[in-house]
Amino acid sequence: MTTDYDPIAEEYRRAKQQPWRTHIEAFTLGALLPDLTGKSVLDIACGEGYYTRRLRRLGAERVMGVDLSAGMIDLARQQEAAEPLGVDYRVGDGKHLDFDAEFDLAFAAYFLNYAHDRGELQQMCDAIARSLKPGGRFITVNSSPMLDFDPARSYRQYGFEAKIKGPLVEGAPIIWQIFLDEGSFEIENYFLDRRSHEDAFRAAGFRETIWHAPRLSPEGEEGFRRDFWQPFFDHPTVAFIECVK
Ligand SMILES: C[S@@+](CC[C@H](N)C(=O)[O-])C[C@H]1O[C@@H](n2cnc3c(N)ncnc32)[C@H](O)[C@@H]1O
Repeated sequence: MTTDYDPIAEEYRRAKQQPWRTHIEAFTLGALLPDLTGKSVLDIACGEGYYTRRLRRLGAERVMGVDLSAGMIDLARQQEAAEPLGVDYRVGDGKHLDFDAEFDLAFAAYFLNYAHDRGELQQMCDAIARSLKPGGRFITVNSSPMLDFDPARSYRQYGFEAKIKGPLVEGAPIIWQIFLDEGSFEIENYFLDRRSHEDAFRAAGFRETIWHAPRLSPEGEEGFRRDFWQPFFDHPTVAFIECVK
């Protein structure tokens, strides 16, 4: 199991094809995004650029993707070379971003849940807030701090399982096992509760924080039985957050 994406960059890229990613994750994020025409956007922990490319295609003028993993950034650059969109990809640590009020939107899919403790979460939120112009927005999806990680519950039908190691305390490792046709791989991130997130956003200078529940796309509703999605919506593994500077 790993927090290092270099060895699993290609597997993770393929895991983004799972239906819940499209019909819940990407659909909900898309619904939360403001009009991006002419805007500057920073995608933190951009991975191989799954959302970075979408943000650019939605009309953002300047789009930059930053990720700690050189393997992920290589994949992103390969796709940029194959189909140039003008996205600037950089290897870097999202805790130490060097931007001063440059972006209208900061976006992050599964970044904050790499904070081991409140101190790291604060570093991340400070770096994000600093990068944004006044009035700028931060939109993010993470492992849900509201989930109780009942060991009896299964998400196998969606292509993953979620487990917590030990009691649900601040910093407890969360293990995601992700299933592909040819096997599975695991990634690890960390539990921090809702209050820790809200405190960190406030201390970083965000004046408003809104939590959003996952939504299901119309195609997801039509293409699958409703009871297929019900277990996910009864106990969502992900939470969506919008913050305004
Ligand atoms: C679950 S992947 C998500 C990638 C992408 N956002 C997506 O949704 O496809 C998490 C990413 O966070 C990156 N990451 C973890 N800690 C980071 C940090 N401190 N700074 C920048 N990226 C980080 C990892 O390298 C990995 O690419």
